[in-house]
Amino acid sequence: MDDKSQQLHIVLFPFMAHGHMIPTLDIARLFAARGVKTTLITTPRNAPTFLTAIEKGNKSGAPTINVEVFNFQAQSFGLPEGCENLEQALGPGIRDRFFKAAAMLRDQLEHFLEKTRPNCLVADMFFPWATDSAAKFNIPRLVFHGHCLFALCALEIIRLHEPYNNASSDEEPFLLPHLPHEIELTRLQFSEELWKNGGDSDYKERSKAIKESELKCYGVLVNSFYELEPDYAEYFRKDLGRRAWNIGPVSLYNRSNEEKAQRGKQASIDEHECLKWLNSKKPNSVIYICFGSTMHMIPSQLNEIAMGLEASGKDFIWVVRNEDDLGEFEQRMEGKGLIIRGWAPQVLILEHEVIGAFVTHCGWNSTIEGIAAGVPMVTWPVFAEQFLNEKLITRVLRIGIPVGAKKWDCKPSEEYVVKKNDIEKALREVMEGNEAEERRTRAKEYKEMAWKALQEGGSSYSDLSALIDELRGLST
Ligand SMILES: *[C@@H]1O[C@H](CO)[C@@H](O)[C@H](O)[C@H]1NC(C)=O
Ligand SMILES: *[C@@H]1O[C@H](CO)[C@@H](O)[C@H](O)[C@H]1NC(C)=O
Ligand SMILES: *[C@@H]1O[C@H](CO)[C@@H](O)[C@H](O)[C@H]1NC(C)=O
Ligand SMILES: *[C@@H]1O[C@H](CO)[C@@H](O)[C@H](O)[C@H]1NC(C)=O
Repeated sequence: MDDKSQQLHIVLFPFMAHGHMIPTLDIARLFAARGVKTTLITTPRNAPTFLTAIEKGNKSGAPTINVEVFNFQAQSFGLPEGCENLEQALGPGIRDRFFKAAAMLRDQLEHFLEKTRPNCLVADMFFPWATDSAAKFNIPRLVFHGHCLFALCALEIIRLHEPYNNASSDEEPFLLPHLPHEIELTRLQFSEELWKNGGDSDYKERSKAIKESELKCYGVLVNSFYELEPDYAEYFRKDLGRRAWNIGPVSLYNRSNEEKAQRGKQASIDEHECLKWLNSKKPNSVIYICFGSTMHMIPSQLNEIAMGLEASGKDFIWVVRNEDDLGEFEQRMEGKGLIIRGWAPQVLILEHEVIGAFVTHCGWNSTIEGIAAGVPMVTWPVFAEQFLNEKLITRVLRIGIPVGAKKWDCKPSEEYVVKKNDIEKALREVMEGNEAEERRTRAKEYKEMAWKALQEGGSSYSDLSALIDELRGLST
């Protein structure tokens, strides 16, 4: 541990959405464990997420993390009172207002940086102005996207070459040129705002600002590990000329069951009850289905999933929203299926030996948790960069199979509902047969590598050491 006079101070500023805040909290813990003074910035209604976790850490003797709370002007931007989290601001209009309100945090950030003069600012991609704010005080800014390197490389290739212009229809696959693997996508798998002329200008402006700020910033912190995507770590550095530190999987940071269970929000099911249910099953026999915190399923899709699950005959844990109506399915499946409404203790479940497959929306936070748990996946991307993550899982790592989702959509439509038969087929394929065994073996190998990466001497451990040393060098 450092002497106070030379203690490095890192400030982390995650975007106000659980998928961003939780990995950032993990990153803060990693820095704190290395004797670095760490401060997390958030808004009043998001603060309890951090404070509860930090208080627990305090009690178990973990190094503490400071929390700085900024005011958030929801109502001045036409947002409902108390709307301080992206999950409460879904839908295009309200989303743009949320981003505008978030941009107003800039002054408070600059005051804070001026007053405290930290050695480094780790700011979310959605605060593109943070690079300039930090530069005013000579503070290096790292960006955190919550994306893997594969997605970072693919997005850059798409930006540079616009390969979607080569496709003759929205469904025709086009190749992402120059990448280490042959990766094909369709225009349907991206936001129309990317490829349609005259698309939403707020979106385009935001993307441009994000990109410019990234090119100017000090580098990128990635919640991944070198051995998972070595080709893309090299590609990012050599071909794209960018700096990145791979410090993940950050969710593996040492913790008790209780902490695993209470990541993010308070879980909607008692962890003991959940464990009791899991303990009653056989190894690799249960399918875990969860679409992340921002996903809203339409009733017909819920119905197809219910039918697909029932037809597969497999035991399952399915995480749905409080208001999702499953009719009699829930009683009919009693014993075979556990339905969790709201927030699931995901890491606790994924790491249990009875989990045989993970049906995931491919958000990176969930994907890396699945990889760290060594569980093969059924990929069901929905939006953001999830269709890219699907390619990493199915084509590059070969630890999952696609369910066949076709369309990028914040609000899924009837037209693109994935059908019962496709769901059943994917569930059987991921659980049964030789190829399933091979996939499972590969998934377990990545799990081993993930845990090793974080141990002293491992790649992620060493990348974090190198970063800390470098920042220390800058400050003397
Ligand atoms: C954790 O402990 C520190 C003192 O070590 C204290 O200042 C801080 O308020 C505590 N944080 C929480 C969230 O309880
Ligand atoms: C588009 O297609 C042409 C002709 O096949 C090819 O030369 C070019 O590299 C392609 N562009 C991209 C960005 O893929
Ligand atoms: C995690 O904690 C346990 C018990 O506290 C300890 O034995 C183990 O070495 C720790 N692992 C890591 C990676 O820190
Ligand atoms: C990651 O995000 C998903 C929702 O996107 C959530 O279900 C999961 O619990 C999160 N995991 C962690 C460790 O926060």
